[in-house]
Amino acid sequence: MKNYKIAVVPGDGIGHEIVPAGLKVLQAAAEKHQFTLETQEFPFGAGYYKQHGQFMPNDGLDTLKQFDAVYFGAVGDPEVDDTLPAMLYTFRVRTAFQQYVNYRPVKLLPGIDSPLRYKSHKDIDFVVIRENNEGEFVQNGKIIHPDQPYGLATDTSVFTRAGIERIAHYSFKLAQKRRKKVTNVTKSNTLINSLAYWDRVIEEVSVQYPDVTYHKMYVDNASASFVLKPEVFDVIVTTNMIGDILSDLGGAIMGSLGLGPSGNINPEKEFPSMFEPIHGSAPDIAGQGIANPVGSIWSGALMLGHLGETEAAQDILKGIEATTQNGIVTVDLGGNAETTEIADSVIENL
Ligand code: NAI
Ligand code: MG
Repeated sequence: MKNYKIAVVPGDGIGHEIVPAGLKVLQAAAEKHQFTLETQEFPFGAGYYKQHGQFMPNDGLDTLKQFDAVYFGAVGDPEVDDTLPAMLYTFRVRTAFQQYVNYRPVKLLPGIDSPLRYKSHKDIDFVVIRENNEGEFVQNGKIIHPDQPYGLATDTSVFTRAGIERIAHYSFKLAQKRRKKVTNVTKSNTLINSLAYWDRVIEEVSVQYPDVTYHKMYVDNASASFVLKPEVFDVIVTTNMIGDILSDLGGAIMGSLGLGPSGNINPEKEFPSMFEPIHGSAPDIAGQGIANPVGSIWSGALMLGHLGETEAAQDILKGIEATTQNGIVTVDLGGNAETTEIADSVIENL
């Protein structure tokens, strides 16, 4: 029997509710499909920071590296400076493990009404591929003389040819397996150096995929199109910050931020990949047992797919769809099911 070693990092806030719910489903799927998941939990996050002054121990990355994948919740706590969580945990893992693809599907699940009143399930089914190692979020900047009238701050984006090429190839290859359409969401009309270069390199790669239709769209138009005509999208390739923002909008048109899954993927499998819902630690609802675990369960399905257990992955997604179809949803979707009840229902459907 195949065994996979999974590092479990619930993080903070609702991470402690959605991750156990997801794990329960993953273990049930493993049993059904005859493989085992050997899990080990790590308390990394803002809670750990409050005790130890760092988000994970010095050897945290070395520890995580020994696993086949990382199953993650979210980090962030109202009592901890919010400039720290991404820098000291999430982006450290994403960068150190070269998880340069952030894979974020947007799909309207059966039984759920999108807030887009004129759109149906066939209209909302696309994937945001967010570049996950470079761009606007490289922490390349400074705050100088913050308290003076001449105070100033910078964050300089970084885009490399190698970084753009690899995310472009991933996106075109993914489109070949879907509806064969790539939309590059950019802002090169005003970021006339970095994103003009981004466009140029993506267009060079696009020529190598003549079976895939290529479009370029500015992000302002793309955000309107998410709402007015989401059916135009199949695979979106975009930068780190634009992808971050648009994928929350994607969660919203699916009906709730709590539904969106994601994979931080190292396609070459040189390092473990990390799977997490798109949302944060939601301190406003933490501890109440009402968080929607679908994004976390679905992220677990993406993890199993990445590990090669595609049948189990598809099975979990079908289980989620049967649950939503039956109207078993949490309060964010107008229902009254609790976090654990969603997990139990998905397991029953398995
Ligand atoms: P958030 O995503 O945590 O919450 C935004 C809103 O969506 C809240 O009203 C929340 O209750 C709701 N929501 C989120 N997930 C939900 C779920 N599963 N079920 C039901 N409702 C859900 O974003 P926010 O409030 O901007 O950030 C809170 C903290 O999370 C901050 O410290 C932030 O830095 C952190 N964060 C961490 C991320 C990560 O670890 N990858 C990603 C985004 C934010
Ligand atoms: Mg985000």
